[in-house]
This record gives sequence, C-alpha cells and structure tokens, in this order.
Amino acid sequence: MATDQLLLEVKDLKTYFFLDEGTVRAVDGVDMVIRRGQALGVVGESGCGKSVTARSILRIVPRPGRIVQGEITLHRMRESKNGRTVTEAVRLTDLDPMGVEMRSIRGAEIALVPQEPMMSLSPVHTLGNQIIEAIMLHQRVTKAEARERAIHMLDLVGMPRPSRTIDRYPHELSGGMRQRGMIAMALCCHPSLLIADEPTTALDVTTEAQILKLIRGLRQELGMAIMYITHNLGVVAQTTEDVIVMYMGKVVEEADVDSLFHDPKHPYTRALLRSIPRLGQRTRERQRLESIRGSVPDPYALPKGCSFHPRCAQAIRGVCDREEPPYVEVGPAHKVRCVLYR
Ligand SMILES: Nc1ncnc2c1ncn2[C@@H]1O[C@H](COP(=O)(O)OP(=O)(O)OP(=O)(O)O)[C@@H](O)[C@H]1O
Ligand SMILES: [Mg+2]
Repeated sequence: MATDQLLLEVKDLKTYFFLDEGTVRAVDGVDMVIRRGQALGVVGESGCGKSVTARSILRIVPRPGRIVQGEITLHRMRESKNGRTVTEAVRLTDLDPMGVEMRSIRGAEIALVPQEPMMSLSPVHTLGNQIIEAIMLHQRVTKAEARERAIHMLDLVGMPRPSRTIDRYPHELSGGMRQRGMIAMALCCHPSLLIADEPTTALDVTTEAQILKLIRGLRQELGMAIMYITHNLGVVAQTTEDVIVMYMGKVVEEADVDSLFHDPKHPYTRALLRSIPRLGQRTRERQRLESIRGSVPDPYALPKGCSFHPRCAQAIRGVCDREEPPYVEVGPAHKVRCVLYR
C-alpha cells in the first residue's frame, strides 16, 4: 500500500460556533495530514472537537458554526487524457458546501459514518432506498444493480437477513442495525477516505470486533484511508497506526500508535491512557475517565495558557497558566504541545 502519498491536508483549521452565550472555539488551529491508505486515530474526551473536525472536512458544519480560518486540501487521483494517473489538489475550503463538486466528493471520495445514525438517516425512506440512492448518485449502475450491491454491503457489515432488512425504515431497526446500515452506506462507494465517528458505540463487543475487522479488510483491499474517531484507546491500538490526541479544539499530541502507548508525553495523553477500559469491558464514559481529575472546562471561557493546566498535576505556575504551549518535536513524527518538553 502506498502510504507515502498525501491524501488530505488540514492546515490551521479553525471552526467556531457563534452563539448568544458566546463563541465556542470547537476547532482551534488543527493541523493534520492523512496519507493514502493510512489509518489515523483521533482521540480525546467529549467536546474536544473531534466531530466538528470531521464535519469541517466534509463541509457539513451546522449553523451557527463555520470555518473561520484554515485550509483543507484533498489530493485526488484521476486518470489523465493519455491514460496516466495524475494527482490533483482540490481545496475543499474554497468550495461551495452545497455545490456540485463538494456533493460529489462527499460520499464518493470522503465518506462519513456519523456518530448519531438516527440523526443522519431519513425517517421517511427505507434504509435500502437511502443506500441505493447513495450508490446511484455516484456510480453508473441500474437500480437493480444498486440494490444488489446494497444487500451485499449490508451482508458484509453483518446485518441480519439483509435482503429483508433493506426494506425496513430506520425506526424499525435497532441502534446497532442502524449503525451497520450507516457503515454499509459509507462503504458502498469505495471512498478513498472513510471518516468513522465513533462507528461502533451502539454495537456489542462481538459485532464491534467484526466491524473493525471488516474495515481493516476493506482498507487492505481498496487502499482506503481511515480517520477513526473514538474515546476508546483500545480500539485505536487495534485499528490504526497513527494517533492524534485532541483537547479543547487543539491537537496536543501526535505519534505512531507504539510511541503513543509506550512513551506518551502529554500529561493529558497519560491520563487518558490510565483510563483505558480493560479489553471487553464496557463502562460508561464517566467511569472510564474517572482518573482524569477535574472536568473539561467551559467552552465559552477557556483557561488562559494551556487549556489543560487546571487539571494537570505537572502544571508550572506562572508558565502554563500564561503561555500558549509550544508544539515540540520529541521523536520521529512524535510531537507534543507542552512546555515540559521545550
Ligand atoms: N451544532 C452545534 N452548536 C453549538 N455548539 C456545537 C455544535 N456542535 C458542536 N458544538 C460544540 O463544539 C465543541 C466540540 O464538539 P464536538 O462535537 O466536535 O466534540 P467531540 O469531540 O466530537 O465530542 P464527543 O466525544 O462527545 O462526540 C463542543 O463544545 C460542542 O458543544
Ligand atoms: Mg463527537
């Protein structure tokens, strides 16, 4: 798999929500790179901006939110006139979110498995018709072929009796079935980037393992890249080779999985790792994160300096509560946003 080629670049992305109560800086200067075929994990506590980052990439940030700064570039491969494969850079941040080009990129090139499947499925259409529509929007196939393909995909994601389930409405499906339906829909057009936002939260451990295996298989087979958003560092260890840790709209650490697990640098990453649920154990998020003291700050009033300092056992008074921490290189492709490593 050629993982050296750029697929997606995010530079200094800022996405804010402008509310009456104030401005929420949901994503506040995020940089990331995803290479072709790479699996990148994005982890962090609730509210740190993972989903908003995903939605910014797909240009589906809901009002009153908007991208206020930064560039998102997709490096797509296409066949040139003389039959050679060439890459072309498309600046997603310059496109009309509802325009033809962005709509064709969504689904066909970058697909999302959303965090809340119920919110993303139309209640008035059957699951099958929604998947069939997605296939026919991007591929030249007949309706019968699209249906065939949808059933096959549903079967692959472990949907029980897919040829019947396909004609059900979302409210007739369980949470796990809806989630599988969303995964099938995201995979049906073979995107070059799959953004999976907590794709397995409604699933039991066995099904989760099946889905992870399926995603890994498709990645191998199609060279698909994955951005895998999760609270669960255990899943990251099994699914991705690189990880980004986010806190309050910023990337605070990035590394390959091995370095992050064996040599975590940021006090926040260390705290997150101490709170990993044991394999197979399903606890509520609150319990799981018990070992990180304090709670996520009020998004309208972020602390000065490093946003983590009020919760950090190693915070240096007069420094961490004043200065923006620098982003320091601590190893090959391992970076941390913390004054301790300056
Ligand atoms: N539609 C919205 N309107 C207002 N604020 C929003 C909206 N969506 C997200 N936010 C705010 O943006 C911040 C980041 O939210 P985001 O959904 O990206 O968090 P997350 O990391 O995905 O959390 P979780 O793990 O709970 O899914 C939060 O403070 C959230 O309240
Ligand atoms: Mg989220």
